[in-house]
Amino acid sequence: MVPASVALLLSLLPMAVSPAAAAAAMDTAERETLFRVMEAVSSDRDWRVESPDPCGAPWPGLECKPAGAGGGDANAGAAARMHVTRLDFGVEPNPTCKDTAAFPPEVFSLPHLQSLFFVDCFTNPAATTALALPAPANLSASGLQQLSIRANPALSGTVPPALATLRSLQVLTISQNALVRGGIPPGIGDLTSLVRLDLSYNSLSGPVPSQIGQLKSLVGLDLSYNSLSGAIPRRIGELRQLQKLDLSSNNLTGGVPDTVANLTSLTFLALSNNGLAGRFPPGISGLRNLQYLIMDNNPMGGPLPSELGGLPRLQELRLAGSGYSGPIPEAFGQLSSLTTLSLQDNNLTGPIPAALSRLGRMYHLNLSNNALGGAVPFDGAFLRRLGGNLDLSGNSGLCLDDRSKVRGVGVGVGVGACRGGGDGDIPSSARSSSGSLMTTRGSSQDSLLLGLLGPACVALSCFFALNEHAPY
Ligand SMILES: *[C@@H]1O[C@H](CO)[C@@H](O)[C@H](O)[C@H]1NC(C)=O
Ligand SMILES: *[C@@H]1O[C@H](CO)[C@@H](O)[C@H](O)[C@H]1NC(C)=O
Ligand SMILES: *[C@@H]1O[C@H](CO)[C@@H](O)[C@H](O)[C@H]1NC(C)=O
Ligand SMILES: *[C@@H]1O[C@H](CO)[C@@H](O)[C@H](O)[C@H]1NC(C)=O
Ligand SMILES: *[C@@H]1O[C@H](CO)[C@@H](O)[C@H](O)[C@H]1NC(C)=O
Repeated sequence: MVPASVALLLSLLPMAVSPAAAAAAMDTAERETLFRVMEAVSSDRDWRVESPDPCGAPWPGLECKPAGAGGGDANAGAAARMHVTRLDFGVEPNPTCKDTAAFPPEVFSLPHLQSLFFVDCFTNPAATTALALPAPANLSASGLQQLSIRANPALSGTVPPALATLRSLQVLTISQNALVRGGIPPGIGDLTSLVRLDLSYNSLSGPVPSQIGQLKSLVGLDLSYNSLSGAIPRRIGELRQLQKLDLSSNNLTGGVPDTVANLTSLTFLALSNNGLAGRFPPGISGLRNLQYLIMDNNPMGGPLPSELGGLPRLQELRLAGSGYSGPIPEAFGQLSSLTTLSLQDNNLTGPIPAALSRLGRMYHLNLSNNALGGAVPFDGAFLRRLGGNLDLSGNSGLCLDDRSKVRGVGVGVGVGACRGGGDGDIPSSARSSSGSLMTTRGSSQDSLLLGLLGPACVALSCFFALNEHAPY
């Protein structure tokens, strides 16, 4: 058996000897391209003088490998050429970018480059520079697998259609570049090796191209925080490997396509802040792996889909501000993994299903600003567990029928006591900005008193105070 230390040494060996072997071996044209890239982008150093042999003594952010390293034949001979395989700009210890940094199209002509990062690099508003690629002929030889252009507020231009020629790409991130605008090129569907595509937080507009359905290997798709419009393409249902889909904060309209039901690997689905309307596709209960369903602020309307109760792994369900009416489905009480339920700012009516109180992992429940009624079904343990993370305010019909429940809770839930313990006798209540117990109960005297007691008011004493002043 080989001791671990020896195995480690052996595995390091090729790297340790390669600088010497490669001393004379870096391709002249490749080195020249690298120098031009460094001069366009990075700080004020004279890279030619300070690093005449870049791969011989690589600096942070630069990685070189001998030719054929990918083919498993790193020791093919002392003459193996070294090639630039990774360039990482922007954040220390990597080379930082100079104030006048310009996007270097020639970087795509480095024939062995596999990974390229520009993070927090083009930041000077007085020196905007366009995201530009060289002619397609220069790109066709590229073996780039990972391209990440992130957090560059001074980078302008569009997502170049010629990106579609970078067929080796597995990870493409063009994110947080507020000046990058225009449409998503349909040709992006040709990048069939893509595993992750992140175009979030730019200023992209136009439709989500249906060709995205060709990206069969995609595991993560994030187009959030742009101005994309039109419908979610039906072909999205072809992305069978997809685990994370985030289309939130765009201008998408139409419905949630029923093909979404075929995304059975999905764990995270976010569609908040769009113009999506209509019913959830019934097949949504087939998304057995879904853990996060985040879909606030869409004009969905209609009843809450009880099918969602059939999602066994669901941890967060957020459907606030979406015009839902009718009752909270009993089936939501089956969501045993649920930690967060946000249904505030809808038009929900009826009682709070008692089954919700048996969800032992719940720690955040917001049902505020609906038209719910009846007695709150939660016991003292539930109320204590959620504390300030429970918000029932702004439901004029809700009440607490047993004040002993809230003994020691210390935090109000925005609901008053039921009159005489009957579910039908319903006080009106009002939101308190502090989240502490506060009710108007139609009597300005009560609300004045409770308002004075303020956030320090322990629920129990609030109820005593309330009862003393109650007109019945
Ligand atoms: C494109 O390729 C041509 C021919 O090899 C070369 O002269 C030119 O510099 C390349 N352009 C870029 C931007 O890399
Ligand atoms: C969505 O579209 C409306 C009307 O076309 C427009 O006023 C609004 O700014 C757009 N919102 C976004 C986030 O692009
Ligand atoms: C899901 O995929 C199957 C097989 O491709 C297809 O027959 C079915 O119509 C799809 N379901 C939806 C709702 O699109
Ligand atoms: C509730 O319904 C009323 C009338 O049906 C509507 O005007 C109001 O905007 C709705 N509220 C919410 C939060 O959807
Ligand atoms: C519940 O939602 C309302 C309205 O969006 C918000 O103001 C409030 O802070 C939320 N409460 C909790 C406890 O999260």
